[in-house]
Amino acid sequence: MNEKLVMFQNRLHKVYKHKSKQANRQNITCYRVYDHDLPEFPFCIELYDDKVYLAEYLRRHGMTDEEHEQWLEECVAVICALLPVADANVYIKQRKRKANRLDQYEKTDTKAEYFSVAEQGLQFLVNLTDYLDTGLFLDHRITRQMVRNESKGKRILNLFAYTGSFSVYAAAEDALSVTTVDLSKNYLNWAEQNMELNALKDDSKHYFIHADVKQYLKTLPPNSFDLVVIDPPTFSNSKRMKDFLDIQRDHVELLNDVIAATTTGGTIYFSTNFSKFVIDATAIKATTIKNITRATTPFDFEGKLKRWCYKLNI
Ligand SMILES: C[S@@+](CC[C@H](N)C(=O)[O-])C[C@H]1O[C@@H](n2cnc3c(N)ncnc32)[C@H](O)[C@@H]1O
Repeated sequence: MNEKLVMFQNRLHKVYKHKSKQANRQNITCYRVYDHDLPEFPFCIELYDDKVYLAEYLRRHGMTDEEHEQWLEECVAVICALLPVADANVYIKQRKRKANRLDQYEKTDTKAEYFSVAEQGLQFLVNLTDYLDTGLFLDHRITRQMVRNESKGKRILNLFAYTGSFSVYAAAEDALSVTTVDLSKNYLNWAEQNMELNALKDDSKHYFIHADVKQYLKTLPPNSFDLVVIDPPTFSNSKRMKDFLDIQRDHVELLNDVIAATTTGGTIYFSTNFSKFVIDATAIKATTIKNITRATTPFDFEGKLKRWCYKLNI
């Protein structure tokens, strides 16, 4: 094994030892093991039970295709030797560092290999082959639990819901109703399947709405919801939308529309992945706005997370 590969092996050994201990202690089986720790090994490595999601950030590496393939194989061999996974269970994805911001939710394959993983007693469908993301954003594990702890008897709204993981947590805690909104039919179906998987699907109180959040919010009467989760993409554009979404430009209007639909005493969890995001707190009509980025950062993202999270009291 060459010197660089030994460095990768040592690093992975060290981080896996540390993180697997913490994961075991917290009974967590899906977590991020490695994220770009060494520049020459620009991977994101996540464990989903007995499977590994290995994303390689593309960069100019100067290798020919054959050399690159060979190098990747050697890296996979290192991973399989250290992590409890079989070679066949390593799912490799190559992601551009600056993915085209408009096609980040598009399909990358059509193998339709879904399997379920457990998180805090709930089940979620994950797909490691067909999309850039897996179906479960591991960095919001703590936030999901926070939402669950407050959901009992409440009317919950999950905006930009993706595969509905927040909705599942809320429904599991006996929310009065859960409304899941997304612009993608695909993800909305996935969210319904996640509810079904947990025996939580109930059309009389859990609703799935295929809509542009910006337009949907304008239709809501005051006092419609008690707790809202809003986790928008940095940018979004689609034929179904009247206008594109730019979270820095639009967050005040978006949040004020959410506040208008939330009951007094209600709560809003707002998250954004835009690393340069600056909140315009004075223009947002909440009673209090608390930055809960640190409090919602799980052990496997410490020092690595570039997203922001806020709790608004209304
Ligand atoms: C960052 S993901 C949300 C992640 C989710 N909250 C979670 O924790 O799993 C963004 C989602 O917003 C959806 N989306 C993008 N633009 C939208 C719009 N204008 N209205 C509704 N949903 C939109 C995408 O389809 C995607 O599912």
